[in-house]
Amino acid sequence: MLFSVWCLIAGLATALAHEGTKSHPIVDLAQRGIRSDRLDSLQLGASEDDAACYCALACDTLTGTFGPEQVDVFGEQAYDAGLARFWSVQQAQETKPRCFFHPLNAQEVSVAVLLSRATQCPFAVRGAGHAAFKGASNSDGGLTIDFINMRHVVPSADRKSVALSPGNTWHDVYTALEKVNLTMVGGRVASVGVGGLILGGGISFFSGQHGWACDNIVNYEVVVASGEILEVNAVTEPDLYWALRAGGGNFGIVTQFVANSFEQGLMWGGDRAWEMHSTKAALINAMIGYVENYDPKAAIIVSFAYAQAYNMWVSVTNLVYSDPQPAEGHPAVFDDFFAIENAFQNTPRTTSHSDLTNDLEIMSPWGARESYWMVTTHVDKQLASDIIDIFQEEVAPLTNFTDFVPAMSFQIISVAQRKAMLRNGGNAMGIGGGDKPLLITNISARWALKSDDTAVLTAYHNFVTRVEEKSRARNLFHPFLYMNYASQWQDPIASYGAENKARLLEVSKKYDPEGVFQKLHPGYFKLAGAPLKW
Ligand SMILES: Cc1cc2nc3c(=O)[nH]c(=O)nc-3n(C[C@H](O)[C@H](O)[C@H](O)COP(=O)(O)OP(=O)(O)OC[C@H]3O[C@@H](n4cnc5c(N)ncnc54)[C@H](O)[C@@H]3O)c2cc1C
Ligand SMILES: *[C@@H]1O[C@H](CO)[C@@H](O)[C@H](O)[C@H]1NC(C)=O
Ligand SMILES: *[C@@H]1O[C@H](CO)[C@@H](O)[C@H](O)[C@H]1NC(C)=O
Ligand SMILES: *[C@@H]1O[C@H](CO)[C@@H](O)[C@H](O)[C@H]1NC(C)=O
Repeated sequence: MLFSVWCLIAGLATALAHEGTKSHPIVDLAQRGIRSDRLDSLQLGASEDDAACYCALACDTLTGTFGPEQVDVFGEQAYDAGLARFWSVQQAQETKPRCFFHPLNAQEVSVAVLLSRATQCPFAVRGAGHAAFKGASNSDGGLTIDFINMRHVVPSADRKSVALSPGNTWHDVYTALEKVNLTMVGGRVASVGVGGLILGGGISFFSGQHGWACDNIVNYEVVVASGEILEVNAVTEPDLYWALRAGGGNFGIVTQFVANSFEQGLMWGGDRAWEMHSTKAALINAMIGYVENYDPKAAIIVSFAYAQAYNMWVSVTNLVYSDPQPAEGHPAVFDDFFAIENAFQNTPRTTSHSDLTNDLEIMSPWGARESYWMVTTHVDKQLASDIIDIFQEEVAPLTNFTDFVPAMSFQIISVAQRKAMLRNGGNAMGIGGGDKPLLITNISARWALKSDDTAVLTAYHNFVTRVEEKSRARNLFHPFLYMNYASQWQDPIASYGAENKARLLEVSKKYDPEGVFQKLHPGYFKLAGAPLKW
């Protein structure tokens, strides 16, 4: 018995009172073949204020139904392995779920959602665990649904699409597709996950040609709050289809994505890195040149970071082109980046899509404290330079913190990307269309000591505030917050615009009238606002 007798004698489930009369999770669970003696213990339920009891009931019922190999509880080796599948220390060491559940299919996910409703045990969903902040995809004290056993990649017979389950990493996906000379629009870092990246938007090396990942999903298989499994596309459920395109985990749990795929052989890419001060101006010029002579096959990430070991700021530019290049050659669009001399690293080469995801992987190692933040502006040379200065000013007092790695990146949301966002009824982000590119600045911190949290986070908060002020003053601010790069004090849903937010709330009311995904799935960006108030 995993839960205390106290839980059992605590009386009839308050959970039942929480539930309206419309759909009853216990009835629905019985219809899914969950044994009645297990349901009896759920009916007994737990007391109002004891989440540990609720979650013990939920986890125990899952173990009884699916067997111990699909449920890992505290104290087991498999539980520790489950925690180790989260990228940041905040999620891997400071968030302890009551149990991990590893579903094999949508039906099993549906049982987990109904059980969470029946017991009022909160849950989180892990794609590949790359979200940085505590609770984003791991539930402290609750139920964490971990997709580690749902990792298929199945191209269609006509080669035009691919069915993916949410637990894959992008390296898994590209490796599988390369066997048949296909690829798709997805993440750029090997160990990042399919689930979170697509639901938040998804910027890819191929976004210039094909748009963002969410704009290339033709069908979502989704478990909604009622436990029903819906096939969601532009025809069957146009509202939900729109909302899932960057609405995050607010509407259901996606158990399969069907994405556009396309023919792709080898391509070209890698990093060039320099000492920063002597290259900053030339790099900004090269980035502006990239915008002005836009080539949709070319993708760049222009980054700056402080390297403690050398007491030196470095600039690292990731350059990718979707066609292979002759040995020692590079695409003309990158001439300005190659004209900058004295690179201490220079890795661009002709290789596979999956191999390119290893380049960025090594820059984002596992097992540190992590924080991600972002801000959007218009593209402007002086502003880009000022943004770098503000970043350096804010982190300067912190540079000797133990294992501190402050980094910032510039990325361009091109007009072509914004246009692709209008496809099939558009997405929820509110930046589709428009005749100007946008500049997104994503900043990250990696550090070792919890005692440094406040100073690091305050500096990053100051940075986004100051960039907003500076860009507003020059009429260059843009409110867009990209969910996949935002911190827990930022509010991407509000940034999508009042109209889109209202529409997302309408869709939520339609598919989740009792707000299950708002209340019982609390960890990440919710419709009502940022996860935390600063
Ligand atoms: C090193 C690194 C590199 C990155 N590179 C890129 C990049 O190239 N392009 C880009 O756009 N972004 C990138 N990101 C951001 C990335 O998209 C987000 O961190 C994303 O959330 C990661 O997805 P995941 O499945 O690994 O995360 P998780 O932490 O597992 O999930 C993130 C959120 O999505 C929810 N979720 C996951 N799967 C499902 C599902 N099946 N159903 C419902 N909800 C689900 C989770 O509950 C959680 O709230 C990067 C991040 C890091 C740390
Ligand atoms: C993939 O492309 C290579 C090189 O063009 C070719 O030899 C191989 O047969 C192709 N494989 C498939 C499965 O199409
Ligand atoms: C970092 O620098 C500050 C100010 O220069 C100093 O007070 C502090 O002791 C240093 N910390 C470490 C860990 O070196
Ligand atoms: C910004 O995002 C890209 C891709 O998502 C990532 O590779 C890069 O490391 C991020 N930059 C920072 C400073 O975290």
